[in-house]
Amino acid sequence: MQIDIIQASLGGDEQIIELSQLAKKYGDVQAVAGLDLKIDNEEIFGLLGPNGAGKTTTIRMLTMLTKPTGGSVLINGYETTGDLSKVKKEIGVVPQHMNLDLELTVWENLELHGCLHKMPRAERQQRMQELLAFVELTDRAHDLADKLSGGMKRRLMIARALMHHPGILFMDEPTAGLDPQARRKIWDLIRKMNSEGMTVLLTTHYIEEAEVLCHRVGIMDRGRLIALGTPTELKKKVGEIVVETLNCGDTEYRFFAGREQALGYAGNLSANLVIREANLEDVFVELTGRRVGA
Ligand SMILES: Nc1ncnc2c1ncn2[C@@H]1O[C@H](COP(=O)(O)OP(=O)(O)OP(=O)(O)O)[C@@H](O)[C@H]1O
Ligand SMILES: [Mg+2]
Repeated sequence: MQIDIIQASLGGDEQIIELSQLAKKYGDVQAVAGLDLKIDNEEIFGLLGPNGAGKTTTIRMLTMLTKPTGGSVLINGYETTGDLSKVKKEIGVVPQHMNLDLELTVWENLELHGCLHKMPRAERQQRMQELLAFVELTDRAHDLADKLSGGMKRRLMIARALMHHPGILFMDEPTAGLDPQARRKIWDLIRKMNSEGMTVLLTTHYIEEAEVLCHRVGIMDRGRLIALGTPTELKKKVGEIVVETLNCGDTEYRFFAGREQALGYAGNLSANLVIREANLEDVFVELTGRRVGA
């Protein structure tokens, strides 16, 4: 099943990230195949998609870690192929894989980033204190980064990405592998940053994360954007009520616009069935034919 791209943007008057026909080819592999997308200022936008869909490659192009082989990106009006230092000031990046310097302390990891961004000493020190309080790591400031738990390391990566006051934060699977409590802590940080004006583009395999956090979601598959909209819009498109039937060990899903239609259909079935509201995972499976992360 294929559904249309629902809307070009949330309808805000300022688009802070604009992708036009953005593409990346690695040899014969078309990792990203012509993305057109606009992200609004102060939006939390989630990119979902199965393994290999092209999410990380997209983020790497948006953050200038790899060059597109086609198309263009504007970040707050600046071309990513232009003056790199201008774009770098605008963005913070939390990559998919942990890249802290584990032999440095928490404090030193932040300080190094501040120095790389040429922040004056006094400003750096004040910012580090603020950010350590924000990510609740003040009491771990002088521990080696290596000694932090997975959730704490992720929070330190967020603090580091925020050191130079970016207005846009890119987060590639910010909560992968974290326990539910650590994940919720990161959600709170994302919401707080966003309420203070930060635009966030994140990728995730956790559908409930996209559902509770993101204003809009884009679903990618094989380098293309196959759906775009608010979680509610996407669910409406597929059908808000699902009837799950178990047939010889296989579950079949049928989608309906309302409960009455679903009950009408279910009334004629003798199989084991469940009637429930659709979630974003159903949309994902219906569109990609795969479970999340598969
Ligand atoms: N440096 C690279 N060299 C060659 N191929 C690459 C490289 N990076 C990514 N690819 C390929 O590009 C495609 C998209 O990969 P990408 O990492 O962007 O997917 P993803 O959506 O982030 O997946 P995941 O959910 O597993 O993180 C895959 O086929 C991958 O093998
Ligand atoms: Mg990835």
